[in-house]
Amino acid sequence: MQETVIINDVGPRDGLQNQPGILTTAERIQLIRGLIAAGVRNIEAGSFVSPRAVPAMMDTDKVLAGVGSIDDTCLTVLIPNMKGYELATVAGAKSVSMVAYGSDSMAEKNAGMSRATAERITGEIMQRASSDGVRVSATIAVAFECPFEGPVDMAVVQKLCGRLLDIGVDEVVLADTIGAANPKQVSKLIASLVNQYGADRLGCHFHDTRAMGLANVYAALESGIMKFDTSIAGLGGCPFAPGASGNVATEDVVMMLEQMDYATGIDLGRLMKVSALARELTGTAPGGRAAPWIERSFKRAS
Ligand code: COA
Ligand code: ZN
Repeated sequence: MQETVIINDVGPRDGLQNQPGILTTAERIQLIRGLIAAGVRNIEAGSFVSPRAVPAMMDTDKVLAGVGSIDDTCLTVLIPNMKGYELATVAGAKSVSMVAYGSDSMAEKNAGMSRATAERITGEIMQRASSDGVRVSATIAVAFECPFEGPVDMAVVQKLCGRLLDIGVDEVVLADTIGAANPKQVSKLIASLVNQYGADRLGCHFHDTRAMGLANVYAALESGIMKFDTSIAGLGGCPFAPGASGNVATEDVVMMLEQMDYATGIDLGRLMKVSALARELTGTAPGGRAAPWIERSFKRAS
């Protein structure tokens, strides 16, 4: 019996928010539908944030309406505050992702608030969400290193993670927002969290800035994590975190997991078509590091 690893593709949000070009609503819907057709069952579809802060995520309500609700598919939207929660739920979102922070500087740059305020608002959102039946995940941004303050104290992240789980969030995602962590650091933090809180409600989110994305996924997997945020074609970056490049590519992670005999429910051949679409629509998506090899291997097989 194969073990299943859950892939949450954040390309339509984390990826597209940081590209020089802005996709149309129809193109964003096309990308999400492609992911669903390839078997991706968890997708971060957009965000409800200030359109001045992130113009590319305007009209996420229209994107949700265009994709519609699809059985077994969880579309999550990122929100930075209560206004985001309200807009998201009016648009029919059933799953939201709130951002918590490992450092105050990142919280200020990203959302104009302290990390304590972000945590308090997460608690308020959680209360509303539990009576509304909305799923809440909380992403701890800069869980390893902050571009402004440097390395983040592990104890800060451990305690924050515990408090977020205590208030009842469905999942805490540990994010290496700028792709600065190495596998040894990942093993150390993640193993301690899994040991303390169990792996069921934990996920990881890695960027590939220093080419350690896959190695970090492996380190977290070995520490017990079975849920990962990845981004189709390695799209990504954070407009508020200098130097961050794209997320670890979905196709690279799916290929690695498949070769290690894990199930993801994703059809890699179809996924490569979505990767090509993401590259074509944006003109900037790098494509997974293994994309040329995967494409060749499918050509040989056909
Ligand atoms: N969605 C849409 N608009 C929002 C909003 C939301 N969630 N929250 C606030 N706004 C609007 C306000 O209504 C106000 O509009 P107005 O100027 O037309 O009246 C404007 O944005 C500014 O609101 P304010 O409360 O003063 O916030 P701010 O300027 O300090 O910005 C955030 C705070 C959180 C809204 C903004 O920093 C943001 O959207 N950050 C998210 C960044 C992001 O997505 N980062 C990547 C993910 S990690
Ligand atoms: Zn990210």
